[in-house]
Amino acid sequence: MDDSRSGAGHDASGDAHALPLATASADRVKLDRVLMHVASPSRVLAEVHRVLRADGLVALAEPDWDTLVVDDPDVETSRAYTRFFTAIGQATATNRATAGR
Ligand SMILES: C[S@@+](CC[C@H](N)C(=O)[O-])C[C@H]1O[C@@H](n2cnc3c(N)ncnc32)[C@H](O)[C@@H]1O
Repeated sequence: MDDSRSGAGHDASGDAHALPLATASADRVKLDRVLMHVASPSRVLAEVHRVLRADGLVALAEPDWDTLVVDDPDVETSRAYTRFFTAIGQATATNRATAGR
């Protein structure tokens, strides 16, 4: 990743819990609707912290499930579905806070 500041960039793939990148090698990290899918969001965020340069930037995007609206005649099931996803969103926010960024 040494030439990433030149704009050349690199593609790498792998498990976000153990990124195949050297420590402090990335200028930018973007996670768009990924944390809600991983087994350990806090571990992934720790990996993000590890690979980012000190002056790096991170962009995180996760849905705000509190604003989810399910329009179905079965109101109780719709509300249970919304509560379930809201709990996931809150757990993601907590993990983000405890990861220090
Ligand atoms: C909702 S998609 C978002 C995809 C992409 N960020 C986008 O904007 O289109 C969630 C992505 O998380 C990836 N993912 C889930 N668990 C992962 C893991 N442990 N390591 C790396 N990627 C993972 C999936 O492969 C999937 O592509």
